[in-house]
Amino acid sequence: MTGEPGAREEALVQRVVASFTGASSPRLEELLTSLTRHLHAFVRETRLTEAEWAAAIRFLTRCGEVTDANRQEFILLSDVLGISMQTITVNDAAAGDATEATVVGPFFTEGSPRVPIGGDIAGGAPGRPCWVEGTVTDTGGKPVAGARIEVWEADDDGFYDVQYGDGRVAARAHLFSDENGRYAFWGITPVPYPIPDDGPVGELLAAAGRSPMRASHLHFMVTAPGLRTLVTHIFVRGCEYLDRDSVFGVKESLIKDFAVQPAGAATPDGRVVDGEWTRARFDIVLAVDQVDRCM
Ligand code: BEZ
Ligand code: FE
Repeated sequence: MTGEPGAREEALVQRVVASFTGASSPRLEELLTSLTRHLHAFVRETRLTEAEWAAAIRFLTRCGEVTDANRQEFILLSDVLGISMQTITVNDAAAGDATEATVVGPFFTEGSPRVPIGGDIAGGAPGRPCWVEGTVTDTGGKPVAGARIEVWEADDDGFYDVQYGDGRVAARAHLFSDENGRYAFWGITPVPYPIPDDGPVGELLAAAGRSPMRASHLHFMVTAPGLRTLVTHIFVRGCEYLDRDSVFGVKESLIKDFAVQPAGAATPDGRVVDGEWTRARFDIVLAVDQVDRCM
């Protein structure tokens, strides 16, 4: 073997990079080249051992083994490594003054029930009632009528309906903004809960001394013709996990007051609520749609 180790290592990087010059598009070549450079830099910088690489392959294999139609361990891995949020952040930079996005998470489902404005999305899920209201506008401040607003959240025990495995639909629904862009609904006050941590990603978190807890939040997905789909949450100001959310999803602009209302306080729609309830405001600003760069 000839040459210094560093030169041999660099020559290998160059050979792998050169192997991609026939890629089917310039963008694919760029992605594969950069991936190669960064992965090789990681191996060289850490002086990765063969045993460590074998352990990493075993870990990824186990992620594959537990992944099925209902569970996606690779997305969870991307989430806890901050890759999901970094990808969102890089792409959100283009959205200007629009509401910031955050991770979608694994618990969105198609086909949620529709509720009217002011309707109740809880569907019997346990939790302290919460009135959420706001507007949908574009970045020019124009109200967006008829925006489809999907909302979903965990119940007071920290579980989404789909985690019960009994077919129930609760704490999720969709509604449409009115002609002035306004919307409102009753939900339940979000509580902190752990991400699914009974698989390899949970073991990784435990080995790293990290908590699986997510800061209390309520999910939104907002769509309207000609405007960019917004996937986001609102977070509860004061939640103890805001600064250590397990998937790095918290953005300052998404932290909202969930003001506690005493038992007996008049509700916005005259509903009679037993005990305390909370209320939050979330004004949503949608960016103009942009055509995705394709591979
Ligand atoms: C969630 O918010 O539901 C979630 C997000 C990322 C990973 C796991 C769960
Ligand atoms: Fe969630």
